[in-house]
Amino acid sequence: MDAKQVLDQVRSVEVRIAVIGLGHVGLPTALSLADIGWHVIGVDNSEVMVEKIRSGESPFYEPGQQELLTKHIDNPRFTLTTDIDQAIRSASVLFICVGTPQRENGDPDLKDVEALTRTIAKNLNGYKLIIEKSTVPAITGEWIRRTIWRHATNIDTGKRSKSPCFDVASNPEFLQEGQAIQNFLHPDRIVCGVNSEIAGRIVKLIYAPLRAKIVFTSLNTAELIKHAANAFLATKISFINMVADVCEAVGADVTDVATGIGLDPRIGSSFLNAGLGFGGYCLPKDLRAFMRLAETHGARTPILKATEEVNMQRINVFMRKVSEALWVIENKPVAAFGLAFKPGTDDVRDSPGLNVVSRLLRERAIVRAYDPAALESASKVKPAVPGQLDYFDDPYEAARGAHAILILTEWPEFKTLDLARLREVVEVPVLIDGRNLFDARTVIAAGFEYVGMGKKVESTNTARRLLQPRTSSGRRAKSIALVYAKQEGETAPVHDVVQQNGTAYGD
Ligand code: UDX
Repeated sequence: MDAKQVLDQVRSVEVRIAVIGLGHVGLPTALSLADIGWHVIGVDNSEVMVEKIRSGESPFYEPGQQELLTKHIDNPRFTLTTDIDQAIRSASVLFICVGTPQRENGDPDLKDVEALTRTIAKNLNGYKLIIEKSTVPAITGEWIRRTIWRHATNIDTGKRSKSPCFDVASNPEFLQEGQAIQNFLHPDRIVCGVNSEIAGRIVKLIYAPLRAKIVFTSLNTAELIKHAANAFLATKISFINMVADVCEAVGADVTDVATGIGLDPRIGSSFLNAGLGFGGYCLPKDLRAFMRLAETHGARTPILKATEEVNMQRINVFMRKVSEALWVIENKPVAAFGLAFKPGTDDVRDSPGLNVVSRLLRERAIVRAYDPAALESASKVKPAVPGQLDYFDDPYEAARGAHAILILTEWPEFKTLDLARLREVVEVPVLIDGRNLFDARTVIAAGFEYVGMGKKVESTNTARRLLQPRTSSGRRAKSIALVYAKQEGETAPVHDVVQQNGTAYGD
């Protein structure tokens, strides 16, 4: 089939789309494309992975994915295979969704992309639109094109093909783990980099059911949009974390600062949650890859260097709070709440929470860890060491005998925990909130000492309270809650001060 015939097939919704690589990008992509009516072939070189999906079980936790899999597992227009050659031959649109992990020097490892490209070159039985969805550095599309020209083979003769019929497009994903299906089916925008008109028309038709804005541009630009988008998100997080340090230095409240600046639509309130910093498979890797891309092409990225440096310091900032609150950390049980790199996923890759656990173990703390979804994946990365690192599927058990509860991932369900019951089981009522998840007053009212990030929360002793400067009305005004908790569990009166929305000073 030539390109025109493929376009007609797309119009008649008969075209076959192969999604190659069924990981955190490929599987949501394959299922979502099937869900909007396309004929999808899901391909992965892992027999185990394909068998698990074929059995109707989602191989990783992603909200909505299991439901889509159950819906489409018997759908004749959704098939699964490990036979990549066959899949390439029977499809006309090929989504590249293989992994591009980070190499030692920070460059993305593109060997799987190249290997797949050579396999495609050997299976060109008519026009193919090759769509990059994996996160790749700019110029990768040009390399895919060059590699196809170099290795294109006429499958009938087995000889070199002098006129391979294909196009390459870049269609980066902006799927957040924990919202991937939602992000795919309701995108803010779709970015498509193409060098041919017909390729653009095919992509437009494929995404037509989503009725979303499509940004058409060149290949290199589309590839760069992905890196720039993630680098900007990372920079926004590091910016608010830098501000958090300043807040602590001057006695301000970073959550209020974030609200105050975020209401300006030019800034926007999302991604302004200060805390332990960003982790996961994407932001750290894409930030580094973007810096490396710029470096190897002679461009400087000082802002990104600072973004990475601020992010790497977050664990130290947090660990300083732990030692300030516990004095001696060695041989003290601490409850670590949150191992996933963020809520809504069981993914612990480059998880700030797990990095804190590593630091605690290095300080010889006794870690009692809990996570609503990531215990299994965490224990694979960091096997339990009874009495040193133990995993609990019950937060109250994890908190039993703890000298501090550490909030490491912003799981919403942590906010529904029964603080009074936690107060009962802990040895020392200290809560160090690495994600500013809790309202300080609520925690303090429950008899805990509360320590946040970028909040000058004082909760340890009367002295500090007495040292507070008096306001003109002779009252102690502070931008956040203040309490004094006696170890015997008796709480002194809470002095509530500034509400977020600026109403009501104190009682
Ligand atoms: C990211 C991008 O958001 C997504 O567009 C891209 O396609 C893939 O990479 P993801 O890795 O799922 O998605 O995580 P994201 O939701 O971006 O969070 C990344 C990290 O930043 C998490 O560790 C999270 O806890 C942290 N974060 C996020 C903050 O510390 N503060 C914030 O305000 C937001």
